[in-house]
Amino acid sequence: MTRHPMLVTCGLPYTNGRCHLGHLRTYVPADFYVRFLRRLGEEVVFICGSDNHGTPIVVSAEEEGISPRDLSLRYHQHFADSFSRLSVNFDHFGMTDGETNTRRTQAIVQRLIDRGYVYRKVIQQSYCPKCERFLPDRYVEGICPYCGVPARGDECDQGCGRHLEPGEIKSACCKVCRSPAELREQEHYFFRLSEFKDFLLSYLPDLGGTQIARNYALGWVKEGLHDWCITRTLDWGVKFPGNDNLVVYVWVDAPIGYISFTEEWAENHGKDWKTYWCGDTAPVTHFIGSDIIYHHTIFWPSMLRGAGYGVPQAIVASGMLKVNDQKFSKSRGYVVWTNEDYLDKGLPADYLRYYLLSYTSHTRELNFSWKIFQERVNNEVVGTLGNFIYRTLYFTRKFFVTFPDVPVDGIILAQIRHSTDVMEEAVRGYEFKSAVDALMGLAAYGNTYIQNQAPWQLVKTDQDAAARVIRNCLQLVHALALLMEPVMPESAQRIWEMMGNSDRVDTYPLREALEYPSSRELPAPTPPFVKMEDDRIRDLEKLLKKRVEEAMNKAKKTEEISIDEFGRMDIRIGKILSANRVKGSKKLLVLSIDIGGEERQVVSGIAEFYTVEDLIGKEVAILVNLAPARIFGLESRGMILAAGDKASLLIPLHPVEAGTKIR
Ligand code: MF3
Ligand code: ZN
Repeated sequence: MTRHPMLVTCGLPYTNGRCHLGHLRTYVPADFYVRFLRRLGEEVVFICGSDNHGTPIVVSAEEEGISPRDLSLRYHQHFADSFSRLSVNFDHFGMTDGETNTRRTQAIVQRLIDRGYVYRKVIQQSYCPKCERFLPDRYVEGICPYCGVPARGDECDQGCGRHLEPGEIKSACCKVCRSPAELREQEHYFFRLSEFKDFLLSYLPDLGGTQIARNYALGWVKEGLHDWCITRTLDWGVKFPGNDNLVVYVWVDAPIGYISFTEEWAENHGKDWKTYWCGDTAPVTHFIGSDIIYHHTIFWPSMLRGAGYGVPQAIVASGMLKVNDQKFSKSRGYVVWTNEDYLDKGLPADYLRYYLLSYTSHTRELNFSWKIFQERVNNEVVGTLGNFIYRTLYFTRKFFVTFPDVPVDGIILAQIRHSTDVMEEAVRGYEFKSAVDALMGLAAYGNTYIQNQAPWQLVKTDQDAAARVIRNCLQLVHALALLMEPVMPESAQRIWEMMGNSDRVDTYPLREALEYPSSRELPAPTPPFVKMEDDRIRDLEKLLKKRVEEAMNKAKKTEEISIDEFGRMDIRIGKILSANRVKGSKKLLVLSIDIGGEERQVVSGIAEFYTVEDLIGKEVAILVNLAPARIFGLESRGMILAAGDKASLLIPLHPVEAGTKIR
């Protein structure tokens, strides 16, 4: 096989919070992918690092009263430790706030400037008159102009997922003091993203990785690309070349981290980073969460192209995460912390790796619950895989001590070859679950085989026949140890040693599964996996439940307001005069509402639940003095009140006149 050097990366975690299951949803499959390719003989470098810049870090550091640098150093170490505890082994784990990255970022931005891809423009920026400062990105919160859902300054994270440009967000208010933000003029630098439309249209259809990334990206390009504001008024970050008052937007220097970390790794290993980044296309595969597809498929390749670097060959996006069937949410308590909730409780990293890889397809939604965790571990890892391995080793030792020196049946080798092929194909297609299923299929095959052949009976009547059965089973265990290494590396090593080996299983290629281990004496086996007991699981469930309750109570407390504050809300009964669908939106209706001698236009996200006829003439509760917003290009002044998943409208029990105030 010809070896093409490959580079695999994972999205860089922000250094302002602890490692949780949401991170692992991306990192574990990436690590599995790298290990598997290496077992196939490919030369793969696995690169990651921490993302230290941007407002999320500055805001958190301010809240904790420490410097962004100190906060970053602390969480950088935390992530490095957490990943290694999970056997997610990067070849290098860098920091974006480092010299290499500063240098590389400035070089790339300078190149973009030199090539005419950057221009200056005065724009309207959110500004807090009370804090007397501009409000970049997460310093401002408001409403997404595209979908009408609460959003952060630079992204609609709860709604349509769009990137938002400075000044675009509606009903903006300052995150720190909550005052309404105003718009002020400021000069910024823009990247001519719109000029990369043709490039992206030819690049994206052939982009490797998961289809979901490609499809989203093409959709966005077809919707139209806007030039991209790449500077921010912050102290923390990489200084913009030639303008010390500005730093580059974090989404410029963060992905450039992929390059600078490659440089740092290459430097330490006597390699050349240009192999990876300076061809026409870069042999690079990015593993990311699906919330950052836009940045990786639109901004990043355009930037690389503009600066004359190679563009990534594949983007692999993982699906979303749920905890107990609820959308993953730190603030609502639906979270599993990698260290506190899992590793520190003494639970094996390999079980979690198994769960994350085998639960569902990589791009689908993954639900985590302790109950399912227990079932999967006990039935599959312990019941199928562990059971077969233990029975084989136990009977070998009991009846033969050493490997019986007899040939292996062709059908067993064919089975192993088949499983290996299925796994390889699945991994190359990013279908990690199918790969793990094939592994477990081989273990199940072994279980059925040993059960049907019953060597413990056979040994009483036909010693040679029993020896052949045991030898076949040992070949399967040998193969399983090698094939499971990318999934559960620690357990694979343990089983490898139970097979009488003293070297490392991860130094062997997968084709070793078909080789004959030499006859040797086996150590006394112990069951390779332990069950998750009911009381253990109950405790873990309790902890999660407690956290959700605490989050609920906290939310209640912070929501308490005074009667005066309530009085500031002008809520009235209004009568719906007309309702029309908003072109291009499945969710939105534009309503005209009589609020007592005045007609108001309100854009409302209820189109999925009501027909136009349902609504006309209805009396509804409406918040009248909400700051106006533009949604889908339409002015919206006010908000009608509704409750629940189906947006049940709040309608008075007895008729009241339009304009009546709610008290
Ligand atoms: N820190 C970002 C996030 O958590 C990811 C950065 S990935 C990179 O959303 F491409 F910018 F490096
Ligand atoms: Zn949105």
